[in-house]
Amino acid sequence: MDNKTFYITTPIYYPSGNPHIGHCYTTVACDSIARYKRMQGYDVMFLTGTDEHGQKIEQKAAEKGVTPKEYVDEIVEVFKKLWSYMNISYDRYIRTTDDYHVSAVQKIFKDLYDKGYIYKGEYKGKYCTPCESFWTESQLDEHGCCPECHRPVVEAKEEAYFFKMAPFAEKIEKLLLETDYLRPKYRAQELVNNFIKPGLEDLCVSRTSFTWGIPVSFDDKHVVYVWIDALSNYITALGYDNAAYDDFSKFWPADVHMVAKDIMRFHAIIWPAMLIALDIPLPKHLAVHGWITFQNKNGENQKMSKSLGNVVDPFMLGERYGVDAIRYHIMREMALGADSAFSNEIMINRINSDLANGFGNLVSRTVAMADKYFGGTLPAEREVGDFDQSLNECILALREKVDVCVNETRLKNALEEIFIAVDRANKYIDETEPWKLGKDESKKARLASVLYNLLEAIRVISTLLSPFMPTTMPKVWEQIGVAADACNYENAGKLGVLPLDVTVHKGEILFPRIDMDKEIDELNAIIEKNMAAAKADLSESEKTDEFTPDELGSEITIDDFGKADLRVALVKSCEKVKKSKKLLCLQLDDGFGGRQVVSGIAEWYKPEDLVGKKIIIVANLKPAKLCGVESQGMILAADTPDGGASVVFPDQSLPCGSKIR
Ligand code: MSP
Repeated sequence: MDNKTFYITTPIYYPSGNPHIGHCYTTVACDSIARYKRMQGYDVMFLTGTDEHGQKIEQKAAEKGVTPKEYVDEIVEVFKKLWSYMNISYDRYIRTTDDYHVSAVQKIFKDLYDKGYIYKGEYKGKYCTPCESFWTESQLDEHGCCPECHRPVVEAKEEAYFFKMAPFAEKIEKLLLETDYLRPKYRAQELVNNFIKPGLEDLCVSRTSFTWGIPVSFDDKHVVYVWIDALSNYITALGYDNAAYDDFSKFWPADVHMVAKDIMRFHAIIWPAMLIALDIPLPKHLAVHGWITFQNKNGENQKMSKSLGNVVDPFMLGERYGVDAIRYHIMREMALGADSAFSNEIMINRINSDLANGFGNLVSRTVAMADKYFGGTLPAEREVGDFDQSLNECILALREKVDVCVNETRLKNALEEIFIAVDRANKYIDETEPWKLGKDESKKARLASVLYNLLEAIRVISTLLSPFMPTTMPKVWEQIGVAADACNYENAGKLGVLPLDVTVHKGEILFPRIDMDKEIDELNAIIEKNMAAAKADLSESEKTDEFTPDELGSEITIDDFGKADLRVALVKSCEKVKKSKKLLCLQLDDGFGGRQVVSGIAEWYKPEDLVGKKIIIVANLKPAKLCGVESQGMILAADTPDGGASVVFPDQSLPCGSKIR
């Protein structure tokens, strides 16, 4: 396998806030693949880094009163600290503020301009500031908002350079539909339908409205705008158009770019277009995974968001459960393509069942029995028996199964395969009942065989697990008495590697069992504290930056909507409902003689905030009793980013009873 190379990349992260468990997913997944490939003998280049330019960074630095570079320098340190804590074995870390990247991007931009793919024009369109994306009218969602984050867009018009996309449409359509570039493949058709079929829009690639970016070398009023800067990292980090490195011919084309679904479009369409324009071969695979969402204690899924305070802090989890347990959990939970909810319960169950009871128990039982019955060193005698063949076949077939999954970036499945083998080995203990063999002097040879088979199974399993959990497996090797260098890829494909008279060493418990109830209480307390702190700490711009609305509801017809009779009403008086912390009782002038409505907004409004204000009610809602008080309708309020409610106030000059359609 000499001279085989493997190049894998994570996205480069925006250092606009501290990293969280969501950022860890791609990085831990790429790290595990990189380690697996190194174990297979590949010469690996694993690249990660930070995407440090843009208006958002400029704004945040200004809010903090520091320069953008000072601002990013500080956060990049936290990213690097996290990667070292999570045992991320990256080979290269690119910062888009690195000089070599800056000058290479300027060359790439000029090259595309000289080739006629970049031209100067004027941009008139809809711009989403948080996503730093321009959108055409037809791409906006049904509320006229950003199709990616669903926040409002603004009209924008300015001189800008554009990258022509039309010349690449046909090739990209073929790349998506006819090759296995995109993983999972089912997303290809959606991209073709949404972006290629309606006609690829030219891409705005420069801005004049902010300065924190790479200046266009031949027109320094402009800075290179987002994607040409960001995507180029994958080649500049190898030395393309710069002298800092000389690895381009060795590692390009990339074997795997791994990204989450929100940036799939840029990697599936724009990146190939740029590469075709530059006459550079296309990467082999783009692996797209979903988001890690946070499942709160009520079982609801929310986006992880700083402003909600539900951002799961990987340092905190690592301290409590160990880095390898966290690595295992996020990879085991997340399937390529699908979203995955991060819940403390699921995580703890997973650690307890798979790691503590499953793998940890297999190792500790086996080592303890070798210690108890043979003083730690197995005798050389052997006796083959029932179930040996079935266990050994399962273990011998494992490496290839894991290879296939890793090659297809299906890490969840790779771990599932490994844990099927763990279960098989545990079942072998129940089948062979070594504790009974241990009581009978004439069964010593059989007992030695059983324990040897188990130790061999553990050797193979732990070798294949080591790229995923690199800290724990060397401890296993120590316990089963095998040298770390014997736990290599080649030996993971065969049995009989341990000496017959292998000596085990009892060691620490690998994955201590977690007390679910105690931990959940403690974690919930931490999250509640974080939520309160997040609410108090965030600046106004951060609150809105981080907000993602709930999923849109399912489609209704105009007739469905017409069933709701919405009216303007005046709050004449208002008081708290006794025995309830949440309810206010409002007396309204609804233009039809008046009515009483009870609303669960007492946490956010005092009665005096509402009296004299016009609001909107659902006037034909069936009356209901809340805390024993009759409510004849409900008032309209919007969700706020911090989980509160904001009453909708219509134009205050509207007469009571005005219908809203
Ligand atoms: N800077 C761009 C990427 C440029 S790549 C040439 C960017 N940065 S980001 O920091 O916002 O996001 C980086 C990656 O982390 C994206 O793939 C994003 O989807 C992913 N994630 C951020 N939060 C996440 C979760 N909660 N779950 C899974 N992935 C998440 O986009």
